[in-house]
Amino acid sequence: MRNLSDMMADSKIFASREVLSPHYTPKKLLYREREINNIEKALAPSLKGDRGRNLFIYGKTGTGKTSCTRYVIEEVKTLPNIKAKITYINCRLYNSRFRVLNKVISDHLPTYAKRGFGAVDLYEKLTSWIEEDNKILVVVLDEVDLVKDLDDLIYTLTRINSDIRAGGVTIIGISNKVDFKAALDPRSLSSLYETELVFAPYYATELSAILKDRVNAGFKKDVVDEEVLHFVAAMSAKEGGDARFALKILTKAGELADEHEMARVTMKEANDAAKLAENEIVYDVVSTLPEHQKFVLYAISLLTQSGGSYKKLTDGVDTYLFSGEVYHRYKSLTEGMKKEAKSERWYRKYLSELEMQGLIASFESGKGIRGHTKLIKLLYPPKKMCEVLQKEIFGPQKPEETGGVAPERDNA
Ligand SMILES: Nc1ncnc2c1ncn2[C@@H]1O[C@H](COP(=O)(O)OP(=O)(O)OP(=O)(O)O)[C@@H](O)[C@H]1O
Ligand SMILES: [Mg+2]
Repeated sequence: MRNLSDMMADSKIFASREVLSPHYTPKKLLYREREINNIEKALAPSLKGDRGRNLFIYGKTGTGKTSCTRYVIEEVKTLPNIKAKITYINCRLYNSRFRVLNKVISDHLPTYAKRGFGAVDLYEKLTSWIEEDNKILVVVLDEVDLVKDLDDLIYTLTRINSDIRAGGVTIIGISNKVDFKAALDPRSLSSLYETELVFAPYYATELSAILKDRVNAGFKKDVVDEEVLHFVAAMSAKEGGDARFALKILTKAGELADEHEMARVTMKEANDAAKLAENEIVYDVVSTLPEHQKFVLYAISLLTQSGGSYKKLTDGVDTYLFSGEVYHRYKSLTEGMKKEAKSERWYRKYLSELEMQGLIASFESGKGIRGHTKLIKLLYPPKKMCEVLQKEIFGPQKPEETGGVAPERDNA
């Protein structure tokens, strides 16, 4: 496997990988004038030294929330004489009140941050720093739903405004989870949602134009067929209007073309890339499953993979498993790992959760097959699923180190 820089050096496909990376902020953000304008408007009072209104930005993943916000922040930085001090915080990394406060301090008062103070000291330092010359602190909390003690954080940040005579704090929250509202204290809610801004999913035509811009900068001239571009845009529009997803597929298609040392990206690569992306999404879901659901899914995958067992039903194309044999396999799996198996009641619950995630399908067998039983079908390729679950459950060891539960040994 060639590494990225090798690929770059002799790539007939890519002109710049950086432009295609998920961290790249494009200079031009299409179809987001209104949104950018609204973020600017929300920030305008802060820039002049007045307390602005808090802003909450939400919308599905890949709709440009982070890009537009960062774009405005960069723009603000170039303005002369601004009163505001802006801190952008990715709450995936800074996911608690303490970490957020610490990040604000380390951005603006780096020497103080290193000294290991507690939350109270940080709060006092921050308050006096703001008050010093009536600063306005703008705290941008991206992926704000990931802050564990969000109510405390919002409370602390808004309390600064009532504790000081001059200057203040403005909060910009960003999230792709609209339902996290329900978990918030009504007081936090009203301050966080003072002004709302919604980012709508992109349409296929919009995605086409966004992709086209990126193709021009990131790919060599004329290597991406128009047809490919429209295909990727259309399928991404269907997947929720996610520009990140669209870029990812296009980049992947480029990589496939590169690997095969082709001069163009064709529909074949686009289709293959789309399939790969779909798999990746599924395996992301798998990694977030609770432990025993992983075990059950692993049992299903192992049984599906092992050919020729008399317990298995096939209709020539698909493999169906009996609910009972899956439970049995799950039990022996947990025993092998010195863990206690959950009861059948829990097991049935796990099955319906796996079904809800779209990983398996289940059917009632109807009369004739062993009376009346539930049949289970894995909806993804068993081999890949086994590999992924093996890694998830046992860590990145080789199968022979996994104590007799590797799929290879299942062909009894
Ligand atoms: N209007 C646009 N023009 C050009 N590129 C865009 C546009 N919107 C999004 N993108 C690109 O799509 C990708 C995803 O955008 P961004 O990270 O801003 O989405 P997001 O709404 O913050 O998603 P999430 O909720 O998952 O964090 C980025 O690579 C960004 O460059
Ligand atoms: Mg984002």
